[in-house]
Amino acid sequence: MALSKVRTNLGVVLVVAVVIATLASCSSDKAKQAGHPSYVTSGQFTTAHPNMSDTLKDYFDVYPTHVQQPIAFTHKMHLEHGMQCTDCHKGVAEGPDATIPNVQLCMTCHQVIATDKPEIKKVAAYQKEGEEIPWRRVNWFYQSAHVKFYHSPHIRAGIDCAACHGDMRQETTAVRKAGLDMGFCLNCHKKYKAPTDCMTCHY
Ligand code: HEC
Ligand code: HEC
Ligand code: HEC
Ligand code: HEC
Ligand code: HEC
Repeated sequence: MALSKVRTNLGVVLVVAVVIATLASCSSDKAKQAGHPSYVTSGQFTTAHPNMSDTLKDYFDVYPTHVQQPIAFTHKMHLEHGMQCTDCHKGVAEGPDATIPNVQLCMTCHQVIATDKPEIKKVAAYQKEGEEIPWRRVNWFYQSAHVKFYHSPHIRAGIDCAACHGDMRQETTAVRKAGLDMGFCLNCHKKYKAPTDCMTCHY
């Protein structure tokens, strides 16, 4: 692919990515679970590079690490109460997508738990309106990188979530860990003798 297109096309790519992410979440809705939340990529980032050379050098770092979410969700608190990752990210062992739980799942507990808290009132308001919480994606790849990623082979191989996402017991909302890039994937694939040919991860 023409590298010169990288910077000029980021805007277009992002719009496409958002459309595709939306379509993908719609289709996985029907396939997997009704009411999967609207789940789109962040529209707010800037390459902020003065020239093409810097853009290329930093190419793998242009993803925003912190994403402003509609609810101040806390991984730490839920994990301290003994919940498992798969209680909420149900697709992680089977499908390509780990998935984000729908507001119905939140409300099975928050119908009665912490109902007086402002953030929980917001959650309840989404449910009342019949809307999903518009969570924004934290981990994703530009469409132009043509990366395919599946969770399931990693989970089957016994790789811990923390290897790629860090220790979520310390997190409120998720942050993207630096360096979720090709070198990171390849180093580990070499270590575990997992496939390293280009078509393993690209389409
Ligand atoms: C299995 C039950 C359960 C489910 C499901 C659940 N929660 Fe919670 N949540 C809790 C418990 C328990 C607490 C801690 C309450 C406390 O100690 O005050 C909590 C705390 C919170 C808090 C912090 C409240 C505060 O300000 O102190 C937020 C925000 C929250 N949950 C949002 C969510 C969202 C969003 C979902 C769905 C994605 C969800 N929860 C699903 C049990 C649950
Ligand atoms: C080998 C690295 C790796 C491991 C291990 C891993 N993830 Fe991920 N995860 C990723 C990558 C890369 C993405 C972005 C995928 C994409 O955009 O296609 C992602 C995306 C996600 C997402 C958001 C998108 C989605 O798929 O719904 C969630 C939620 C998630 N991971 C949860 C988990 C949980 C829970 C575990 C452990 C059970 C886990 N991940 C283990 C690398 C990993
Ligand atoms: C109570 C439900 C709940 C539990 C339990 C939970 N999560 Fe999450 N997770 C969420 C919600 C809601 C979001 C969306 C908000 C955010 O980005 O933090 C999320 C987001 C994420 C993301 C970022 C998704 C993206 O857009 O890339 C990752 C990665 C993730 N969780 C990993 C984990 C791991 C690993 C565990 C277990 C150690 C875990 N989660 C346990 C509800 C949960
Ligand atoms: C911490 C180690 C680790 C990291 C990091 C990692 N992988 Fe993997 N990956 C593995 C292991 C182990 C397997 C399983 C190989 C097997 O089943 O033989 C695997 C399998 C896969 C497969 C399925 C291969 C096949 O055809 O069987 C794909 C696709 C894949 N990884 C893509 C990625 C991508 C993309 C990234 C970076 C975002 C990544 N992996 C990061 C360890 C890792
Ligand atoms: C283990 C998974 C994996 C393998 C194997 C792999 N890649 Fe990648 N590749 C990635 C990931 C992840 C990215 C980063 C995407 C990003 O950060 O935007 C990437 C990025 C790239 C990019 C930059 C794409 C862009 O956005 O412009 C090129 C070019 C590329 N890979 C080529 C290759 C070639 C050629 C091979 C075979 C020699 C290969 N890759 C093998 C995972 C892999």
